[in-house]
Amino acid sequence: MASDRLPPYRDATQPVEVRVRDLLSRMTLEEKAAQMAQIERRVASPDTLTGLPVGSVLSAGGSGPAERASARQWADMVDRMQRWALASRLGIPILYGIDAVHGHNNIYGATIFPHNVGLGATRDSDLARRIGEATALEVRATGIHWTFAPCVAVCRDVRWGRCYECFSEDTEIVRTMTSIVSGLQGPPPQDHFPGHPYLAGRSVLLRMRKNVIACAKHFVGDGGTHKGINEGNTICTYNELEEIHMKPYLDCLAQGVSTIMASYTSWNGSPLHSNYHLITDVLKGKLGFKGFVVSDWEGIDRLCHPQGSNYRYCVLASINAGIDMIMVPFNYQKFLEDLIFLVESGRISTSRIDDAVERILRVKFVSGLFEHPFSDSSLLDVIGCEEHRLLAREAVRKSVVLLKNGKDKKKPLLPLDKKARRILVAGSHADDIGNQCGGWSITWHGDSGRITIGTTILEAIREATANETEVIYEQSPSEATFSNQDYSYAVVVIGEEPYAEFLGDRTTLDIPFGGADVVSLVASRVPTVLVLISGRPLYLEPSLLEKIDALVAAWLPGTEAGGIADVLFGDHDFEGVLPVTWFKSVDQLPMNVGHPAYDPLFPLGYGLKMNLEKTK
Ligand code: GLC
Repeated sequence: MASDRLPPYRDATQPVEVRVRDLLSRMTLEEKAAQMAQIERRVASPDTLTGLPVGSVLSAGGSGPAERASARQWADMVDRMQRWALASRLGIPILYGIDAVHGHNNIYGATIFPHNVGLGATRDSDLARRIGEATALEVRATGIHWTFAPCVAVCRDVRWGRCYECFSEDTEIVRTMTSIVSGLQGPPPQDHFPGHPYLAGRSVLLRMRKNVIACAKHFVGDGGTHKGINEGNTICTYNELEEIHMKPYLDCLAQGVSTIMASYTSWNGSPLHSNYHLITDVLKGKLGFKGFVVSDWEGIDRLCHPQGSNYRYCVLASINAGIDMIMVPFNYQKFLEDLIFLVESGRISTSRIDDAVERILRVKFVSGLFEHPFSDSSLLDVIGCEEHRLLAREAVRKSVVLLKNGKDKKKPLLPLDKKARRILVAGSHADDIGNQCGGWSITWHGDSGRITIGTTILEAIREATANETEVIYEQSPSEATFSNQDYSYAVVVIGEEPYAEFLGDRTTLDIPFGGADVVSLVASRVPTVLVLISGRPLYLEPSLLEKIDALVAAWLPGTEAGGIADVLFGDHDFEGVLPVTWFKSVDQLPMNVGHPAYDPLFPLGYGLKMNLEKTK
């Protein structure tokens, strides 16, 4: 159809703001309210998507079309829902959202990159951008449009279960790594107004082919939650909130981040989900954010105690504070009923509704969703492709931090000898993809075991060593391991079990599962390098530290453990430096650079090299 017969909102040659205003003018209050709802895939149906079209559908962590579903099955599911939405009266496409927070981590066989704490150890913004590009392609291959990433929290207390989702405790390091937004969304178009990429020209409209919509989270101050208590209270001055926690959002805005997620936490007792000053005055007013603010999962329900008790108040307080889309995710009818009642009774203004829907539509037009609502089957082969796995291996290599190398003036143990006669590999995390991926991997909380396709540390060591080298693997070594057997050296890999959010909150940070005992047993008999798999620093007993010959912090490396072998055996030198302070005792926490009593075991920024040229 010639563009002169298309309604403006369907005409891609029209400026974005013209399309927004035209579509908004055609919508009923019910349709506007529906656009402000995000529902979980399990309640998506022709009724919810065609009858009264929601603005968005999401997959909760691990919520997919089937166990180990293929990319094709995911794409078919999303496309089916999209067809329901496009059959609605105005044919507004849905945004499908998911937590692709370290690669497309929900999908069996996808490339899983190191979690953010490991990327923070690289300080490499170009690497972050390239990971964003690769992640966007794998997400689009499944037909999904939107990822709830990056988390730009500045983690100030490593007892918090979400420390590993943070790039660092240091604001400037987090700011450096926000370049992932440009990788996910594509660089801001040149013809955009400074700081307002949404008022952009045509170039943005093809975005949806290879890019996805990003979501900076969780606004604001989540990383400062008191004592690391998840969904807790961040107690600080406004200046500290700005200086420590808000600055990374400026970098995300400058890159045109399309969405921002509100934080479960409170600031000095005021819940972010109902904080008009921070969301409307500051984020939308002072900082000029033109995209839309989405709540967290049942985030508005938490505004009432008991949770969700007075839901109508929760809707009132959150929408009037400036939240534009509510991640309901199930109680869709109640949300709609309350929102419409509150508008018709004048307690929520139509101008507030129009502002919210304008922002949602703006993101849908700017991203190219109207022109590219469906999956692109030509992308299916990118899921877990060799190029992405090599990128992940590079990220792993650059993220691991060497904390000790050498003992009693002996020659440093690393780099390890690839041609040693016999070596021991031991520990609960040496041959476990699930443990090395951590939370947000295939399921919400992650799981131990062979959860997806990838290379374990043991497999990487076997690949790196010479054929004549005998590699003995003992998950739980004992005295018998050493009777009439000698080893040139041992690699012991232990650490944390996978967890997510509140499941990871700890008051003590000892190495779990008796890992320390395994290290002690092995290190007292064989030159040993300890490789720690964890989302954060763990307590290291001084005597344990004394016993081992080398110590490597590998964080949560994801599927490509080859990157760990690359440095252990000296194919590359270590580059990683600590993104968080390594404490001596949890009694010191919270302890960050700049604190008067700063007395770490290893300070922020610490990391050794092997200086390979000297060892040749
Ligand atoms: C979770 C997390 C948030 C995530 C959302 C959707 O509770 O707080 O980071 O994006 O729900 O899974």
